Parts: sequence; C-alpha cells; structure tokens
Amino acid sequence: MPITPCHVATTKQLSGAYPFLCESGLKARGVVIGQDLLGGPFCFDPFELYDQGVISNPNMVVMGQLGKGKSSLVKTYLWRQGIFGRRCWVIDPKGEYGELAACFGIRPIYLRPGGSIRLNPLEDPYVGENDRSGTVTARRVELLAAIVSASLQHTLLPSEMTSIEMAIRDVESRHKQPVIPHVVEALLSPSYASATMLRTTVTELAEDGRQVALELRRLVTGDMFGMFDAPTTGGVSLDAPLVVLDMSAIYGSDALGILMSCAMAWLQGIVDKLSLAAPGSSQIILVVDEAWAVLKNPAAARWLQSSWKLARAKGVSNIAVVHRASDLAAVGSAGAEQIELAKGLLSDSETRVIYTQPPGEVALAGELMGMTPVEEEIIRKLGRGIALWKVGQRSFLVRHLVSTTEQQFIQTDQRMGVGVRQYGTSFPASPQFIQTDQPMDIGA
Ligand SMILES: Nc1ncnc2c1ncn2[C@@H]1O[C@H](COP(=O)(O)OP(=O)(O)OP(=O)(O)O)[C@@H](O)[C@H]1O
Ligand SMILES: [Mg+2]
Repeated sequence: MPITPCHVATTKQLSGAYPFLCESGLKARGVVIGQDLLGGPFCFDPFELYDQGVISNPNMVVMGQLGKGKSSLVKTYLWRQGIFGRRCWVIDPKGEYGELAACFGIRPIYLRPGGSIRLNPLEDPYVGENDRSGTVTARRVELLAAIVSASLQHTLLPSEMTSIEMAIRDVESRHKQPVIPHVVEALLSPSYASATMLRTTVTELAEDGRQVALELRRLVTGDMFGMFDAPTTGGVSLDAPLVVLDMSAIYGSDALGILMSCAMAWLQGIVDKLSLAAPGSSQIILVVDEAWAVLKNPAAARWLQSSWKLARAKGVSNIAVVHRASDLAAVGSAGAEQIELAKGLLSDSETRVIYTQPPGEVALAGELMGMTPVEEEIIRKLGRGIALWKVGQRSFLVRHLVSTTEQQFIQTDQRMGVGVRQYGTSFPASPQFIQTDQPMDIGA
C-alpha cells in the first residue's frame, strides 16, 4: 500500500488552514479564578493538576508591575481555597492581608523587633521522634549560611561555612531546641572538640567564625532583635485556615529578605511537623508576597530554591509574588549565574502568572518564563486584573474576577484616594461566586 507523504506546516500556516480553532481550556477542577478570555471560566488547583499529570510541581510565581492586581489575585485565591478546606499561610511584608484574615475570623501574627511574638527558625520538628531526619542539621546550616552571606554580601569562605557547621553541631549536642543566640555563642567560643576535629586551635576556629557571629548577632541584640532569637512563643496557633505573618513593621528595612527567610524556615519546620503527624495530609498553600526582597540576594535566592524543591514531597504549593523578571535574576546583576538561578527557581514553579511588564523587562521575562514572541507582545499591554497564565506547557489569558464580598479585602488603592472600582464583570457575593455549571469536587 502506498504511503501518503505527510504534510509539514508551521503553526502560522496551520492557523490559516484551520481558522477559529483555539485552546480548549484547562478543564481542571479547582477554584474559579475568572474568565478565560477565549471563553468559559478558568479554574485552577495545583494539587488537582499535579494529580492529573498536567504539572509536575505545585509551585507558582506571580509576576507583574506595581498595582496590576497580583496581591488581589492571591488574596481571592486563598479565600476561595479556604472554602474548600485548604490551609493557607502567608508571609505578608506590607501588612495588607489583615482584612482577608478578618474575613476568616483570625488575627495576623505581628512580627516586630522586640515585639511579643518570637519564632524559632532553627526549631526541630522531629524532636522526641525516633525517625529524626538527618536533614535538620543540614537545613539549619543552609539557612544560617544564606542569612550571613546575604548580609555580608559575599559568598562565604570555606572556613566560614565550616565554622557555622561546627557551631550548629556543638549547640545540637547541648540543646534539644537550639536558638540563634546559642549559635552565636558557639561561634564566638568554639569547643575544643570542634577545633581538634578540624586540626586547628580553638582561637583560630573562633577567628574563622567571628564575622559570621557578629552578623548573626544582629538578630539577637542588633536592629533585628526580638523576632527570631528565642524559642517560639507559646500559643502561636497554626490550626486556622489562614495564618498571616505580618512583617510590615520591618518593611523597608534592608534586612527584610533575611527576616522573610527566617519566617519561611520556621513555617517549613511546621510543615514537617504536620506531615510527621499525618503523612500526606498537608496540602498547604504558602505565599511569599513581595518575594523580590528574598530573591535580590543570590544566597537567599539559592536557599529559597532549595526549599521550593521540597514542596512536592511535603504537599506544599509555594507562591512567590514578584514585580519584574529581573527580580528573579537578582536585582541589578542579571549575570549568567543569576539567570541560571532564576531558571532553576522557575523550573520548580510550573505555574507562572504574568501581568503586564515594562518594555525593558519583556525580553528577560520571555526568556525566563518560556514565552513565545506572540505572548511577549501580549504582556506589554495587559490591563489591570488580566494576566497570562502559563500552566505546565499551556497558556491562557485570564481576567481575574472579584466578588463584591472580596472587594472588601483586596483594596490597596485607598491611600491613593481611589474608591472601590469594578474591573470586568463582578460575581455575586461569596460563597455563590465559586459555582459554575458543573459542581466542583476538588477532593481537598
Ligand atoms: N481583578 C480585579 N478586580 C477589581 N479590582 C482589582 C483587580 N485587581 C486589582 N484590583 C485593584 O487594584 C488595586 C491594586 O491591586 P493589588 O494591590 O493587588 O496590586 P499589586 O500588583 O499587588 O500591587 P503591588 O505591586 O504594589 O503590590 C487594588 O486596590 C485592587 O482593589
Ligand atoms: Mg501586592
């Protein structure tokens, strides 16, 4: 039988041969985000999509210019996910999730220097358990190295790294739940055993770790004291459907990224504790709003990326909110290493929501986010509330719809003297706004 030769054509030619065909929609179960501009509602749930094999990790990056609706999207998304029983944790550097928290009937946890709440980023979730994970030490070392490297603004020397590692081992042998002041003490006065192991003297080892200790001391007695320098304050509850860590008291501080990393480390310890208590049941959404503050430093960005990688195993969907593509490539120094770092973070974030980008950022955004030339054109001129969603290999243009109930907690324009304004069609008040033609069962 003769074989018919196949016809090869570009997608440009094919769109002429087959006009009026378009993307069939995500067709996934999940919360309604808004309107797919090619028709129909757009629903999204990372756990559901992971289950269906559409994406291979549940993380998400939301990127866009100031005031384009990034935080509004995240707030309404959390509200809608909360209705289905998902637990949501937010690192809130601007202190703008208070109204959302009030709708959930909770109060944010206020973190401020010398305030009444302390969180221990070195907390060991496995304490008292037989199957204590060997990764706790490594993660403590990674976190402290990222903090110190970020504030010293240089890559740590092998001697500095080793001094952190030895100090952590020293304090672990003495304290069940070490805190940062213990580590500072161990760096300033290392043990004889540590010095012997490194074939050096106690004095030399103390000299190696001195700069590290002085930098960490800022968290204990310096300008950042009284937040991450003691055991976690009793009564801090994470049982609520939404937990907000309000860090607005330090917004604007050059140490914001470091403090956000500490907060994330503490939250990750809690995730470990939860998955230990009930394996496979966590399904938590962890939002880092204004994540550029962490990403602007390569060491902190590397640390964030390594935590992102653990998301799948722990049932956590991380969401990072950034302004520009260059935030991902470490502000001001988009060199080859930073681009690779950004690509690494993005390969662990298979859902990318892109609001409008300034002209100078479009090319980098296109490269990092894997956009086609047509998509690059589109993101130059998107209106407020409209974003390009790249979910795995597929792309959607979505208008984010907000219910009248939700309008209460998304307003960030008041200080500009702007009242409530409608963008696109508004849904009726919650909880009806999540109803579509088909009943949703997201198996939360
Ligand atoms: N889809 C939408 N429908 C109605 N209003 C919206 C929508 N998206 C955003 N807004 C309004 O736009 C304003 C700015 O939104 P938002 O604070 O979410 O922006 P942002 O991108 O997070 O800004 P920033 O980069 O400064 O953090 C808010 O007051 C909000 O009420
Ligand atoms: Mg915002």
